[in-house]
Amino acid sequence: MTIAGIDLSATEFWGLPLPDRAAAFALLRAQQQPPFFAEPETPFAEPGSGYYALVRYADVVEASKHPEVFSSAKGATSIPDLPVEFNEYFGSMINMDDPRHTRLRRIVSRAFSPRLIAKFQDDVQRAAAEMVDDLLATGPCDFVANIAAKLPLKIICDMMGIPDDQYQMVLANTNIILSGADPEFVSEDLDQAVLQILGAGQALADLLTGLAAVRAEAPAEDLISALVTANIDGEQLTTAELASFFILLVVAGNETTRNALSHGLMLFTQYPEQRALLLADLEGRLEAAVEEIVRYSSPVLFMRRTLTRDYTMNGHNYREGDKTVLFYYSANRDEAVFSDPDRFDITRSPNPHVGFGAPGPHYCLGAHLARRELTVMLRELMTRVPGITVGEPDRLLSSFINGIKRLPCQF
Ligand code: HEM
Repeated sequence: MTIAGIDLSATEFWGLPLPDRAAAFALLRAQQQPPFFAEPETPFAEPGSGYYALVRYADVVEASKHPEVFSSAKGATSIPDLPVEFNEYFGSMINMDDPRHTRLRRIVSRAFSPRLIAKFQDDVQRAAAEMVDDLLATGPCDFVANIAAKLPLKIICDMMGIPDDQYQMVLANTNIILSGADPEFVSEDLDQAVLQILGAGQALADLLTGLAAVRAEAPAEDLISALVTANIDGEQLTTAELASFFILLVVAGNETTRNALSHGLMLFTQYPEQRALLLADLEGRLEAAVEEIVRYSSPVLFMRRTLTRDYTMNGHNYREGDKTVLFYYSANRDEAVFSDPDRFDITRSPNPHVGFGAPGPHYCLGAHLARRELTVMLRELMTRVPGITVGEPDRLLSSFINGIKRLPCQF
């Protein structure tokens, strides 16, 4: 592999075997200057003028800490600017700057009351135990459908107050929204794909509108009730804010943790000595193992920022309007911070990975919940099915999500 042969905007790049992908980023990190790429083709926008790939840890951290220079408002979750018709469904806090971002995050953080969080902690334990009961009864099967996708889906839907007969509809739509370039979920015809993605947003927004109307009349103990009734200091979400926040939460809640779980099982299959280490002291090593899985797999591969003014960072001069793409996947393998970064090591300490984003205002709102889901499910599996292994993954073709669609498991 040569530097000239690496194109982060080429769909094929994201289909490369994972060790080749890691090797390509190592080559990019070794360059003096951040590499610049033409923009990828996407279904929903004309390519803009290109972007700098921030592949080093120091750059990703500095950009995240300076949101006044590195703005999220032109779109954090896609490299091309989002067209206006996407804002209605996908314009929530992840794609905002202050003061709008702080206001929204404040209202939402208040809705995540300690009582609500405590309730969901117990629910995660119960749900994980039931899913492992079912797994043992089913026998070898697809780990994604039976465990990895199931737990986050149930937890995020319960948290929102979405009835269980709607779970599959929610999953189908979040799959479409984060389908990337994968033809399994969206058409290869770009116009058609836009319609599918907007249709998925509309379906989730309709679900929210119906639920919000019911909860406004009869509040229950769920997040939607808390959000429709929250009116502290005169602050309340508008219906549009509520809908796009709902979509962000179900998408982020569904499409991330499940991949961390699948990667985790792949890693314990690939590195049996790490499994043995974990099993030798499950309670003592589980927390660090979860962090190492998130570092190593980086389920969210990147977020984007756009420069609000000229700025010099780590020796490079950026201009106002430049796009930068923060590759968490690469920062998490930066040899300047992590020794032997391609080694999966559950005893790594310290492990200051940026898998949930780097420190800054957009740091993952669901990190606590995701860590809980990963810890509880791994504990269940390693206690009750400690010999579980997986076969070849069927990977999602996406530059944004390090996804696994199917993963056969045996035990
Ligand atoms: C392993 C699982 C997860 C990973 C790897 C992950 C990753 C990330 C990353 C990298 C960001 C940073 C965005 C930025 O800086 O621009 C983020 C933000 C966010 N995440 Fe997560 N996430 C995970 C799980 C979750 C879950 C379970 C939820 C919901 C319950 C969630 C909700 C959010 C929200 C709402 C934001 C936006 C926060 C803001 O803009 O202020 N995430 N996540």
